[in-house]
Amino acid sequence: MRVASVMFALLLLTLSAVPTAQAPATAKPAAPAGAKPAAPARPASYKPEAPTLAQLMRGILFPSSNIIFDAQSEDPTDKKLDVNIKYGGVYGGWQNVENAALALSEAANLLMVPGRVCSNGKPVPMGRADWPKFVQGLREAGQVAYKAAQTKNQDNIVDAAGTVTEACSACHDVYREKPNLSLRCTP
Ligand code: HEC
Repeated sequence: MRVASVMFALLLLTLSAVPTAQAPATAKPAAPAGAKPAAPARPASYKPEAPTLAQLMRGILFPSSNIIFDAQSEDPTDKKLDVNIKYGGVYGGWQNVENAALALSEAANLLMVPGRVCSNGKPVPMGRADWPKFVQGLREAGQVAYKAAQTKNQDNIVDAAGTVTEACSACHDVYREKPNLSLRCTP
């Protein structure tokens, strides 16, 4: 039943993608024979979608790191775990941990998208020299966790979870842990 409903959802996605994918072709005149194919359309620039850094943290970094932290003490292949009951038949088990690790490394890219503000309205301090270093620390911690998840060994996850915690704290110590909210995102 579960597989069937997922396949149905995929089918819907495919169907609904068709009109969008075809729209530009009908809007533009056909290219003359022998002309170079047009470059694929892409956005002129990349901009943040989560208005505040805190929302990005809560939406991606918090849940993804918790999947890694849980895998230290809870066997990801345990079919009785909530996460495996929910996603076990699709992207569960160790793959779920791998994907969470990849999400952390990918989030490093998002932490460098210009134009985002912190919850107090200050710009994300990506122009400061230490910000990209902390971001790189997160990228590498995600890679470490990814490799650990591929070994399917909980001892390796314990080590990797330590690396992830250090990467989060290194940045938080400087830019988040403040006596009050208004001081966040300044060193
Ligand atoms: C490059 C810096 C940086 C890194 C790396 C980083 N954070 Fe953050 N994080 C911040 C800043 C700055 C804030 C405050 C954002 C705001 O107030 O808008 C924050 C806020 C948060 C919040 C929201 C706190 C609240 O106000 O509700 C959570 C949750 C969080 N981070 C989790 C994590 C986790 C988990 C990691 C590691 C996997 C991580 N962060 C890595 C800079 C970072």
